Amino acid sequence: MVGGLNWTILGVHFKVLLKRVMSLGLGNGKNVVFQSFNKMVILGSILFSVIAIYSSYLYMFPAIQPVFRNDEVKNSSLVGNGMIGDSRERGNFLSSECNVFNGKWVSDESYPLYNASECPFAERGFNCLANGRKDNRYLRWRWKPKNCNLPRFDVNVVLEKLRGKRIVFVGDSLSRTQWESMICTLMTGIEDKRSVYEVNGNKITKQIRYLRVRFSSFDFTVEFYRSVFLVQLGSVPKHSPKRVTSTLKLDRLDDINNEWIDSDILVFNSGHWWTPSKLFNMGCYFQVAGKMKLGLSIKDAFKKALATWGSWVEKKIDANRTQIFFRTFEATHWSGSRQTCKVTNQPWSKPRGKDWSPFSDIIMDTVRRLSVPVKLLHVTPMGAFRSDGHVGTYSDTPSVPDCSHWCLPGVPDTWNEILFAFILSQN
Ligand SMILES: *[C@@H]1O[C@H](CO)[C@@H](O)[C@H](O)[C@H]1NC(C)=O
Ligand SMILES: *[C@@H]1O[C@H](CO)[C@@H](O)[C@H](O)[C@H]1NC(C)=O
Ligand SMILES: *[C@@H]1O[C@H](CO)[C@@H](O)[C@H](O)[C@H]1NC(C)=O
Repeated sequence: MVGGLNWTILGVHFKVLLKRVMSLGLGNGKNVVFQSFNKMVILGSILFSVIAIYSSYLYMFPAIQPVFRNDEVKNSSLVGNGMIGDSRERGNFLSSECNVFNGKWVSDESYPLYNASECPFAERGFNCLANGRKDNRYLRWRWKPKNCNLPRFDVNVVLEKLRGKRIVFVGDSLSRTQWESMICTLMTGIEDKRSVYEVNGNKITKQIRYLRVRFSSFDFTVEFYRSVFLVQLGSVPKHSPKRVTSTLKLDRLDDINNEWIDSDILVFNSGHWWTPSKLFNMGCYFQVAGKMKLGLSIKDAFKKALATWGSWVEKKIDANRTQIFFRTFEATHWSGSRQTCKVTNQPWSKPRGKDWSPFSDIIMDTVRRLSVPVKLLHVTPMGAFRSDGHVGTYSDTPSVPDCSHWCLPGVPDTWNEILFAFILSQN
């Protein structure tokens, strides 16, 4: 607070001085030499006072210095575990100056990375162009981190890196979107499209629990497990109030968790289902150690569920084998109390508060406390700008506008570009 105030005062002071200099310049020109000299003296003294004030400011508030270097990384322990920029790793993208999640979207005609109509794994609901969307600027944005660049996506390099591996996504429909995006992006490097297939011949649906797509020529699979809460759904204990029709066991990870363990790359998400409308209004309440916790808030329940996830990771995952990622809350662009959805043609120029989510904070806090390395895909800030990227009414159910899910190609492709960059940086 003190810092901000100080700068504001300094700014006003500077403006006043500058105005004086300018008004001097607008004189009648009789004494040009004197005026120039006068200007130089004034400019010099402004410069001197700025430097002096800045120096004394830094002297008085040394702890605030890092804010100027990188306003995203507020706690250096975030840098080492979770946030990228781990100093043990090398390269520009991974250097400590680079917080890949702090940046902006820049126009780039080389995007999109694929054509969803030519990808059998892009579900119709996310293929906005096929559903009648006419504007197409939303396809041509590249994420530019503030102090570095994302490595340019090279499909052949990534395919080779993934040879023989098992990639597993666990989470809700936003995870399914990233899974679809990954498959479509990688398929651009595959000549024989039939060599990529769902092993059980299953079709993508909103409810499907498990999908496994195999890239046979590179011998790797990209899998999706639907687990919207990550923890187990349970039955209702006896003597529960009538309104309780199902429960979430916050201390038990989803019962298919064993299937996630033996993987090389594991990507989690959760958040969008932790709302009263998807829980309490549906009669679903929380349970811990077999006991109903009717008064527990959704945020505290989410915290508890993530703690359960965290101890599972520590106990069950061999971090030497498996690279673990957790994607933070994917920004939504609902507006107003009536939850209307307006998809724009251009990204917002400001995040307007969408760059923060309590779910993301809980995720980051949980990850930071773990004894095993988990990389955060902190996609909340970058998504905040992308009011233009949602499916809106260009889905398979146009009567229900949607400002949660994203068009494909689109924003989830960037999540994968960042994921690939991390994977490639690993030996
Ligand atoms: C950063 O966070 C950790 C873990 O919460 C805490 O122990 C540490 O004191 C924090 N460091 C700073 C500089 O705030
Ligand atoms: C995508 O592919 C479809 C089918 O091949 C084609 O009709 C369409 O023009 C392509 N779209 C773009 C933007 O290239
Ligand atoms: C992982 O690797 C480290 C360093 O090589 C080793 O000390 C550790 O025991 C390994 N952990 C497991 C679970 O294999």
